[in-house]
Amino acid sequence: MISVKTKEQLELMRRAGAITRDTLRLLEDKARAGVSTAELDKAAYEYILKCGAKPSFLNYHGYPASVCISIDEEVVHGIPSKKRFLEDGQIVSFDVGAFKNGYHGDAARTVAVGKISPEKQKLVEVTRQCFFEALKVLKDGVRLGDIGWAICSHARSFGYGVVEDLVGHGIGREMHEDPNVPNFGVRGRGIRLAAGMTIAIEPMINMGTSAVDFCEDGWTVKTKDRLPSAHYENTVAVTADGAEILTV
Ligand code: MF3
Ligand code: CO
Repeated sequence: MISVKTKEQLELMRRAGAITRDTLRLLEDKARAGVSTAELDKAAYEYILKCGAKPSFLNYHGYPASVCISIDEEVVHGIPSKKRFLEDGQIVSFDVGAFKNGYHGDAARTVAVGKISPEKQKLVEVTRQCFFEALKVLKDGVRLGDIGWAICSHARSFGYGVVEDLVGHGIGREMHEDPNVPNFGVRGRGIRLAAGMTIAIEPMINMGTSAVDFCEDGWTVKTKDRLPSAHYENTVAVTADGAEILTV
């Protein structure tokens, strides 16, 4: 069942979204060569608590941290570690959620550590554009296939692989609600969204193959060809004539 949020509920989701956004800003600021991913996770955890919120991911199905930090060929769900340090030339994705007053925000950004190659820069940019291509078509009555098409057709026009084994999702009182929001689709197909629905749109775009491996730590997802991958995500609310981004 897809829940439709009231004005009051949307206001609470804006609060959770703002904390999520600010946590990402903090992480982006701290993303420098030499910092450990555990240190970044700790900073995010402390910030979220300071805001009177809870990290949505911590203990979610046993996930052991507040942030997913995924570097280069890691697509999503990288686990922060005291032994893993950011290095110049890497792209790193931060994915974080905050739970406040009964509602979740969920968002992700991929950023450069120091100087990165033009190829990586392009991948990061196009992944962000994919989200905004989806946003252009998002409004009351749009079909999920139109959203997926907007994302995958943009990514594929650059020769990139679109991850199909992981998808976006409805969000609200639960971090993962109905419906699934795939980053691929066929125009004119799929269920229709309505004003008041809140979803997380999260393109995961690979420089090479769309195929991924699920790693032995039980969480980390990597590209099969070990080429880089980027991730960009926002929580959005569908409106009568468009959408409101809750995490920018
Ligand atoms: N942010 C992820 C998503 O968009 C969820 C992370 S899984 C977790 O669905 F276990 F780390 F929480
Ligand atoms: Co999500």
